[in-house]
Amino acid sequence: MGERIIIIGAGQAGLQIAESLRAEQFEGEILLLGEEGVAPYQRPPLSKAWLAGETATDKLTLRGPDFFAAKGIDLRLGAHVAQVDLGARQVTLAEGETLEWTGLAFATGASARLPKLKGADLPGVCVLRGLKDAREISARLGMAKRVVVVGGGFIGLEVAAAARKKGVEAVVLEAQDRLMARAVTPRISEYFADMHRAKGVELHFGAQVAGLEGSDAVSAVTLADGGVFKADLVVFGIGASANDATAAAAGVACDRGIIVDACARTSVRNVVAAGDCTVFRREDGVMLRLESVQNAVEQGKAAAAALMGRSKPFVATPWFWSDQHDVKLQMAGLSGGMDRQIARSQGEHAFSLFNYCGETLVSVESVNRPGDHLLARRLLDAGLSPAPDQIADATVELKSLLR
Ligand code: NAI
Repeated sequence: MGERIIIIGAGQAGLQIAESLRAEQFEGEILLLGEEGVAPYQRPPLSKAWLAGETATDKLTLRGPDFFAAKGIDLRLGAHVAQVDLGARQVTLAEGETLEWTGLAFATGASARLPKLKGADLPGVCVLRGLKDAREISARLGMAKRVVVVGGGFIGLEVAAAARKKGVEAVVLEAQDRLMARAVTPRISEYFADMHRAKGVELHFGAQVAGLEGSDAVSAVTLADGGVFKADLVVFGIGASANDATAAAAGVACDRGIIVDACARTSVRNVVAAGDCTVFRREDGVMLRLESVQNAVEQGKAAAAALMGRSKPFVATPWFWSDQHDVKLQMAGLSGGMDRQIARSQGEHAFSLFNYCGETLVSVESVNRPGDHLLARRLLDAGLSPAPDQIADATVELKSLLR
């Protein structure tokens, strides 16, 4: 057998690895194995414009069929990898077929969490991760009067916003005392809580879901404190777990994700991993799970280079976004450890928060300020920390601070 790289998972990261391998002049076989029955597509719009009915399904496709033929990428859909044998350099598909590789990439993504609660298997209890999930939620939203969303994170709030756009009542039950606590600072949580309430979303904090009621389909969510919320659709958006079981069973080092270095290399030679299935071990030992398109793309590029024996570390500042109602939230950098926040405002509904840890700019959160976000990424990428008084002064152009 000549050289053959097998990529397990045909999402954003898997596709990126395949494309980057060709860009890196890899001339051997590329086998891209996808579990879902559809070609690689964008997931972010599923909970945003797609669910709101503002984007068609065919617009989600990342690459047309001609692309795979032109690039010599063998895309196999509906292919579930049951086992990986690192010693024999083989993967075994669920149907029993065995395939050999000279290089292997895991791009297996993550799965939405669903707690083992009584009633969690009732029809109308959903999660949102893939197109199939989104289709089910969309169909049920079309008939629902009231959706209860468990989890006030990105997925939950985007679903609540889409529901309101369709005139469906929306309730969000969040375990913590503020929205999106994992990803944003309290001022952003507060702004979004006010905005969601103004759009008619009912928010409840400190909520501990105890169970789901219903006979043919879900009819209510019950809380540990006795609260009961009627619902004809319940969507859980309480985070995602990395799909690392196949890698772990094969003997690849994992810790709530496949452990990778800055070059997307795993603990095993010629085996890389990229995207939501990974946990990145930083040089200082900190373990980071970055679930974003940007991470999938950048790690995918690094992974392809690593398979070609080159080091292409992923160093860019992490960034994320979310669309809720008509508000665009964009985040660059990580806010952990920040102790000072400087606002740069263009009015109540268009502002950015620059977060400092001592003298160092660590992250920037922007609400309806896409220009600020792009420049913030450039500042952070360049390791620049402008003086706070310059940030606060709206007459000082951010661009000028890049010099
Ligand atoms: P998340 O981690 O953003 O939010 C989960 C929320 O649920 C948190 O606020 C948490 O406190 C709450 N929670 C956890 N357990 C709970 C419980 N038992 N009851 C009530 N609340 C509970 O995760 P989310 O929103 O599910 O998103 C999952 C993944 O989807 C993200 O990590 C990301 O990969 C992807 N995503 C990214 C987006 C973006 O970057 N804009 C948008 C949507 C999804």
